[in-house]
Amino acid sequence: SITQEQKATIKSTAPILKENGKEITSIFYKQMFENHPELLDIFNQTNQRIGTQPLALANTIYFAAENIDNLQILMPQIKLIAHKHRALTIQPEHYSIVGKYLLLAIKQFLGEKSTQDILDAWAAAYNIIANIFIDIEKQLYDELGPNEEDKGGVALIIVKKEVIAHESIVALTLERPQNGKIFKFHVGQYLTLRIKKDGNFHNRHYSLTRPFDGKSYSIAIKIENMNEIKGVVSNEIINNYNIGDTILASFPAGTFQLVENSKHHLFIGGGVGITVLLSMIHELNKQGKSNDAILIHCVHSEEYAAFNDELKSILPEGHYQLFFKDQRLGKDDLEKVLEANTQVYICGSVPFMDKMEGLLVECGHPSSQIHIEAFQPTLSIIKG
Ligand code: HEM
Repeated sequence: SITQEQKATIKSTAPILKENGKEITSIFYKQMFENHPELLDIFNQTNQRIGTQPLALANTIYFAAENIDNLQILMPQIKLIAHKHRALTIQPEHYSIVGKYLLLAIKQFLGEKSTQDILDAWAAAYNIIANIFIDIEKQLYDELGPNEEDKGGVALIIVKKEVIAHESIVALTLERPQNGKIFKFHVGQYLTLRIKKDGNFHNRHYSLTRPFDGKSYSIAIKIENMNEIKGVVSNEIINNYNIGDTILASFPAGTFQLVENSKHHLFIGGGVGITVLLSMIHELNKQGKSNDAILIHCVHSEEYAAFNDELKSILPEGHYQLFFKDQRLGKDDLEKVLEANTQVYICGSVPFMDKMEGLLVECGHPSSQIHIEAFQPTLSIIKG
C-alpha cells in the first residue's frame, strides 16, 4: 500500500525522473543484465539499442505513478503490456529483479538528492504496479490451460514457406508436430517466435495473417535490409529456417481486435502493416460481412502490394484501394470512405500511423473509433 505522503513524493519527483528517463533506464538495464545475464534471453536487444524498450518501461511507471489513484484508465495499456509479457513467458519472480535494479538506478541517478522517503515512495508505487501486472498475467497463463509446457514455449513445424510481394515478405505457416493441439486466438493477435543466435534466445512477435483454422498459424515476416540493426531475427528465420524445421513459439497473444457488431470497418495499412489487417478482413469475409470492410493499403509500388490477389478475391469492387509512394493519401480520400460510426484500424510504421491519425483527426473522426497496432513498444512513442 501507499500513503498520501508517498503519493505526493511520487508526484513531485516524477518530473525529474521523467526528464532523465533515458539515463536512468540505461543505468538500470546495464546493471540488471550484468547481474542477471539470463534476462538477455528475454529482452529484445534491438529495442534496447535503439532505446524504445527502456523508454517504454520508464514511461509506464511514470504514467502509472501519476495516475496511482485511478489506474483503471490505464487498463487498455496495462492489458497490452501484460499480453506481451505473457508471450515472452515473463514470471512473477522477474518483477522483484526489475524492481530492485530500477530503484538502484533511481538512487544512483539522484545521488545526494536521493532520500529514503523518495526511494520508499517509488518502491511502494512499483509494487502496486507490479502486482497488477502479475495478477493479469496469471489470468492469461491460466487461460492456456493446465498443461505447464504450453505456458512456456512449444515447438512448431514450418509446413509452408513462400516469398511474396517483390521478395519483400516471407509468409510462413506453422503447425504443431503430430497434428498437436494449437491454442485458439482471435484476429489481431500475434505469434511470438523464439530463436537462438549468438548464444542467446531472441523473441519476436509476428502478426497472424489468417483466422483460427484449428490446426495452423500463418504469419508474414518482412525481409529487412541487412545493414540495419533491425531484422536480425527476421532475417535469421528467413535465411536459415525451412519447411520441416521446428521453431519455438509461445501461444498467440495481443489485445488488438475487431470491434464486434460494427457495420463499417476501415483498414489502413502501410507496407507490411497489411499482415494483421489481412486476418481481420478474412474474418469479416468468413462471417459474410466483407461488404462492411474497406481497405486502403499504402505501398511503394504495385509489386509490393502483398496479398493482392487474395484481397481482391475477398473484397468487393471498390473496397480495396492501393496508394503508391508518389500518390498522397489525403483527407479527401479518407472522407470519401468514412461514415460517422466507422471503426478504423491502422497498422504500419510509427510515422505512417501518426500521419493517418492526424488525417483522421482533421476529418473529425472520434479517437475512440481509431485503433492502432504498433510493431514497436508503443509507450515509447507517447508524446510527452
Ligand atoms: C515490454 C512495462 C516488468 C520484460 C514492455 C513494454 C512496457 C513494459 C511498456 C512495451 C510494450 C509494448 O508496447 O510493446 C513494464 C512495467 C513493468 C515491467 C511497467 C513493471 C511494473 C517487466 C519484467 C520483465 C519485463 C519484470 C522481465 C524481466 C519486458 C520485455 C518486453 C517488455 C522483454 C518486450 C519488449 C522488448 O523485448 O524490447 N514492458 N514491464 N517487463 N517487458 Fe516489461
